[in-house]
Amino acid sequence: MKQLRHQLKLATMLGLLVAGLAGAFQNALALDAAGEGRRAWLKYNCYGCHGMRAGGGMGPAIAGEGEEIYEAVTYGKGEGMPAYGTLVNGTEIANMATYLRSINSSGEPMFLHWWELVPTQ
Ligand code: HEC
Repeated sequence: MKQLRHQLKLATMLGLLVAGLAGAFQNALALDAAGEGRRAWLKYNCYGCHGMRAGGGMGPAIAGEGEEIYEAVTYGKGEGMPAYGTLVNGTEIANMATYLRSINSSGEPMFLHWWELVPTQ
């Protein structure tokens, strides 16, 4: 009986350890807000119209813009800006705002391989 209790305790401890490690691993893989914003920027093809680093193209230059992007991204704007309301969530929009503000700073993420867990290039 004593041994069984001991084994149960050990199993619980092991379970907690594994869960803790998995959580830490996932956190270690997540990029910072600007990085996740860059990921979304590429993934949703924003760059196709606004330029690779938001310097403008068929759409206006929006590098440096902040939280005010929420409305245009959610509902669309004018003739050319599609509505992304059903595709992106608030966190992704906030991350993209952080990304746009990071452009031309030393922390600007410039990777292209957004599909990689930790983009290498
Ligand atoms: C098909 C081309 C296209 C794509 C794709 C696109 N945009 Fe746009 N976007 C535009 C155009 C054109 C405008 C200008 C609309 C207007 O003012 O008439 C615009 C406007 C905006 C504005 C408002 C800028 C301002 O100062 O008024 C923001 C913010 C923006 N886009 C962000 C994004 C983000 C973020 C994405 C990706 C999720 C994206 N856009 C994808 C074409 C595009």
